[in-house]
Amino acid sequence: MDLAGETITDLIRATWLIEAGRADLYRRWSHEGSGWDSRADGADERARLLADALGELGRSPDAHLVEGHAAWLRNLVGASPGEVPLGDLFAARLGDWVEAHVSRFVGDRNSRLKELGDRERAALRFPDNLPSPPPFEAIETVEVEPPGEVRLRFAILGDLHFGSPGAEAAARVAISDINASGAELVIQLGDVTDRGGKDEFDLAVKTLGELEPPLTTMMGNHDVIAIDDQTLSGRELYGSAFGREADGVLIEHKGVRFAVLDSATHAASPFGAFNFVSGTFIEGPGGALVHGSFTPPQHDLLAEVAAPGAPPAFVFLHHPPQPFLAFPPILFGLRESDSGRLHATVDSGNVWGVFAGHTHRNARTRDYDGVPAQEVAIARDFPFGYALVDVTARGYAFRFVQLSDEALLQRLYSNASAIHRRYGLGSPQERGFVWTKPPS
Ligand SMILES: [Fe+2]
Ligand SMILES: [Fe+2]
Repeated sequence: MDLAGETITDLIRATWLIEAGRADLYRRWSHEGSGWDSRADGADERARLLADALGELGRSPDAHLVEGHAAWLRNLVGASPGEVPLGDLFAARLGDWVEAHVSRFVGDRNSRLKELGDRERAALRFPDNLPSPPPFEAIETVEVEPPGEVRLRFAILGDLHFGSPGAEAAARVAISDINASGAELVIQLGDVTDRGGKDEFDLAVKTLGELEPPLTTMMGNHDVIAIDDQTLSGRELYGSAFGREADGVLIEHKGVRFAVLDSATHAASPFGAFNFVSGTFIEGPGGALVHGSFTPPQHDLLAEVAAPGAPPAFVFLHHPPQPFLAFPPILFGLRESDSGRLHATVDSGNVWGVFAGHTHRNARTRDYDGVPAQEVAIARDFPFGYALVDVTARGYAFRFVQLSDEALLQRLYSNASAIHRRYGLGSPQERGFVWTKPPS
């Protein structure tokens, strides 16, 4: 299937999953008060319309993914209505996202979709004042014991978004903390820039020049298009900023491999940015496709990683692999065929861990028979930090570390809503874990 066809199919799959997840949420909430049953019915009917549209494309809905997506949603907005401030409005906004994105791909079904959306919107009650964010509370680093003597420590620096508010200040603190951490190398997870412009690449290169350990960055979707002049200039700008083609790179240090994959898709998205406060698209052109993919040289690189007898490897990419169950499900992850390729690479037994950015949260995307695929949160957004990994002969210990500058954190916390905090933090097991190679 071509890229456009695959993207539209995955968009409709995602919207079906969102409606099925919302129906599940409202059905659970219906035990706590009236009105939720009719919202559940509405979401169910919208899911049926989308399943129908999907059927026309020769595809069935992903019923097996509903439980995971619904659990993510419940975690975010609460197991009962009112548990999380604005939780009900957020769940409704996900429905607005569905409508806005899918309207031109579902033909006649669109009018009924909109009617059901209008009915839900009419029942919403907006507060007069937005609740203030919860108070500052530092995040404890989860204590983890490396499995044996540490051979090397490396740092993972998540998405940076240079050019966006707060990004440079947060990056500067992360850089000085990493310089003091004893890390021997640093891998960055893409979205180096926010709007893909040359000024942002220049700022990134200049600021990252302060890092003492060697740094390897990768391309994220935000780096693909220079938004302000709408040019697909990312490969060129990225290449001149970081001195390599965005086709992946394999590094070896002390007998451990670091496979850094530029999973950004070099294509424009048909959609602009979406505003969750207003429930509409933000005016102006959008960025790159949010779906990730590998170029042919990156497939070759994965074959090298999987070669029999090859050294242990960590794999880094911008997009979490499938099944991606947060928001937007499926669509925000690495495309399915490349996720399958990654899975096969991990099955070689050479891969000790997979680390992804893009989502700005601490989360375990999935396990491959115990080998974790882990999303790493970022310095600019709650919970504001980076990760350190201590590698031994038998495995490693991973921990997320919050920035050390409390004055900066105090300032940044005042923008982090309750929902945002529930989204980004991750469980203690997602902020600190130990992995040990199983006996062969
Ligand atoms: Fe990002
Ligand atoms: Fe991204």
